[in-house]
Amino acid sequence: MKSTIRLSHRLTELTPSPTLAIAAKAADMESSGRPVINLSAGEPDFDTPELIRKAALLAMESGQTRYTPSQGTRPLREAIRDKFETDNQLHYPLDSILIAPGAKYALHALAQCLLNPGDRVVIVAPYWVSYPDIIRLSGAECTVLQTDARDRYRLDLDALDHALHPPSRFFILNSPSNPTGIQYRRAELESIGAILRRHPQIVIATDDLYEKILWSNEPFSNLPMVCPDLQDRCVVINGVSKTYAMTGWRIGYAAGPKVLIRAMADFQSHTIACANTIAQAAAEAALRSLPELITGMVTTYHNRHDYLVPELSRLAGVTITPADGTFYLFADCRTFLNDTPSIGNDVALASELLEHAGVAIVPGSAFGAPGHIRLSYAIDLATLKIAVERLQHFWNRHTGLRS
Ligand SMILES: Cc1ncc(COP(=O)(O)O)c(C=O)c1O
Repeated sequence: MKSTIRLSHRLTELTPSPTLAIAAKAADMESSGRPVINLSAGEPDFDTPELIRKAALLAMESGQTRYTPSQGTRPLREAIRDKFETDNQLHYPLDSILIAPGAKYALHALAQCLLNPGDRVVIVAPYWVSYPDIIRLSGAECTVLQTDARDRYRLDLDALDHALHPPSRFFILNSPSNPTGIQYRRAELESIGAILRRHPQIVIATDDLYEKILWSNEPFSNLPMVCPDLQDRCVVINGVSKTYAMTGWRIGYAAGPKVLIRAMADFQSHTIACANTIAQAAAEAALRSLPELITGMVTTYHNRHDYLVPELSRLAGVTITPADGTFYLFADCRTFLNDTPSIGNDVALASELLEHAGVAIVPGSAFGAPGHIRLSYAIDLATLKIAVERLQHFWNRHTGLRS
């Protein structure tokens, strides 16, 4: 029978997360006995470290099983305040810090508290897949600034200046970036800051989720660190998902102007009440842990990156931009696709790779960059080597070479 249920206008605008859709298709193939190597995942392949799991057990055993304030527990907010002091030399009082069930929800809460229909939000492509939908759910529209592999995904400052005029209200910068793995350097942030100073109506979100998964020769910086005068209109978004292999625990956080953080806490109080109490205790242990806890994971991602870059660069018509961090590589396949009209575009390429090479990747269109693909190396090196062989075989078949 045909359903008579009508969805809200907001929802009809929503596109399901393409990364999750590909992971689901890959899982379907797996369950029907067709082995797939999944390079589409956006999460670490490590287990949450024991020290963190133990903190959760202790929290449960000691009765930390009730609601917390919607803004988050005081001990976790203190740990976040101390993290900002130590790592970023940024000072936030406790009422400027909010704990959310994931950085994704913190961004959603921020968009809901800040934006109105008719407002515009400036984002940089390739962008993290959820930004456009988070923005659309708030009734606002995106202005997308394109960047290109040929310029190492550098932002065109004139285009930024132009885009930031009203009705733009909000600007999101993500570094190191999902999907490119590229970090904004201090000098670039200074130039971006100089443009932002000309647009005082703009609130800035700096999405620092991959702050610690970084191996470039320059330490991490974000806009408020480089341009302290902008701190009063910056919201820093961060979380424990990627750094501490805690994606399923759902803890993220935001730090910024009190008025926004207060509104976001009120918004949370009527939507999710609070982030999970036990997970908050676990996140506190993560943030209080010694840096060595994550060194092994970061080194492993880095080694896999260094293996992949030369191997993937051998694929005809593909340009790989080495990453500064994260566990992603973004491959520019435009030349290959131009020379291979039988495939057509990046979405078809993703589907062919899944069907014929048994390798799941995410098409660049999902990140606002058609003609590219994102490969995640949150997978062990031995499997990664098999994936590379399969990719090389697929490519050779299409470019007429013998593998
Ligand atoms: C750039 C970026 N920001 C935010 C998030 C959200 O992370 P979480 O909600 O798990 O904290 C992700 C997750 O993939 C991401 O890649």
